[in-house]
Amino acid sequence: MFSNKVSNGINGEVIIPGDKSISHRSIIIPSISNGECEIKNLLKSDDVLNTMKAFKLMGVEMHETNSSLIINGKGLTSLSKPSKEIYLGNSGTSARLLTGLLASQNFQTTLTGDSSLSSRPMRRITDPLLKMRANIDTTNGRLPVTINGTELYPINYNIDIPSAQIKSGLILAALNTKGQSVIIENNITRNHTEIMLESFGAKIEVQKNNGKSKIIINGKNELFSKNINIPSDLSSSAFFIVAALINKNSKIIMKNINNNPTRNGILIALKKMGAKISFSNETFINNEKICDIEVQSSTLNGCELSEDFSKLMIDEYPILAVAASFANSPSVFHGLGELKVKESNRLELIKINLLRCGVECAVKNDSLFINPTNNKSILDENIQTDYDHRIAMAFSVMATKLGRLKINQSDSIATSFPSFSSEFEKVGGIISWKKKLFQSMGQQGQEKEG
Ligand code: S3P
Repeated sequence: MFSNKVSNGINGEVIIPGDKSISHRSIIIPSISNGECEIKNLLKSDDVLNTMKAFKLMGVEMHETNSSLIINGKGLTSLSKPSKEIYLGNSGTSARLLTGLLASQNFQTTLTGDSSLSSRPMRRITDPLLKMRANIDTTNGRLPVTINGTELYPINYNIDIPSAQIKSGLILAALNTKGQSVIIENNITRNHTEIMLESFGAKIEVQKNNGKSKIIINGKNELFSKNINIPSDLSSSAFFIVAALINKNSKIIMKNINNNPTRNGILIALKKMGAKISFSNETFINNEKICDIEVQSSTLNGCELSEDFSKLMIDEYPILAVAASFANSPSVFHGLGELKVKESNRLELIKINLLRCGVECAVKNDSLFINPTNNKSILDENIQTDYDHRIAMAFSVMATKLGRLKINQSDSIATSFPSFSSEFEKVGGIISWKKKLFQSMGQQGQEKEG
């Protein structure tokens, strides 16, 4: 895909799809609960569709209506052995959460994924599960992973890596384990799993103290379904927030955005840089905080962000780096080691692509330094994405200021935001697709490649 013209302003209402993290949990948790659950505003992106397929393969009854997905859950031990391996595509969240969940189920499963997911570390979840006496074989610490489900023992475990995926995988394992498990997060991360489980009647208690969180789970207690209305995804909205901030004559509004304080670091960081962002209609749905967000063109200052920020906005550094490239002073973001093990080595790709766009930047000891200059000239129009959706979307936003960039492997955007290009063009971003591919693939080719 090419982004080939400077934008004249980003304006209008952007429809942001359902939150990806909450969508995964909205399939996983009702599938092991009792009763019917109607899920509204589910994100139908590749990652979430892979989670859905996984649970269908394990015998969960679900069907779609015009506006919702209905899941009929039959309890903690109701899943059945899948007839084949479970393919999870690009989805790290599905891989880590399902490894935890399936460790205590009474059957064998093998999880596989695409080449990106197959290169990501799994020991961070399998090591603590082995302490619960799980029986799991990894492929040198990576997918394919074979889980020989068995009775587990409760765990008392300190998580040192800041990761909601590890925490959630362990919580899901503890739910079907007799006795009390205690999981301590040394760094608080997104808490969507805990919020949803509390409302489904799980015996779970969360104690927060001094930036740490202690989660106590009493296992083998059945869960009971509730209907779910999924808020819109703050991480997806961040691409539009930054597009509006860095382009003159811009004003956008986005409704029902999830503003969960365990993951809204991007809003705090951009405000610190002088962004004109305002919030209205603040309320809660399914115990998740939501609000409408309005954004206007702004003059941004650079800023320094400590490692603590990275836990509150780990997915937003690619787009924050684009914002920092148009600030009027340098920025430095610390503690970005985890970015190296995301869908790509994001830290490296941010640096490579900023340099190609003529932005001075450097990475030293997991800190990213950005020195914005007024006259950026594109040194290489090819944006290397390594099939990473957030790199592709961040540099589409970069192109609204620079002009023509070629975003390679842009079909990865369907991982989290299938309607990104149509929303982007609707409000004034400009994208064109390679004619030949578009013609040979018909309408769907629009989301495929360029
Ligand atoms: C997610 C947690 C984060 C995040 C990912 C979604 C989740 O990963 O990067 O996009 O839904 O739990 P880590 O927990 O590995 O940091």
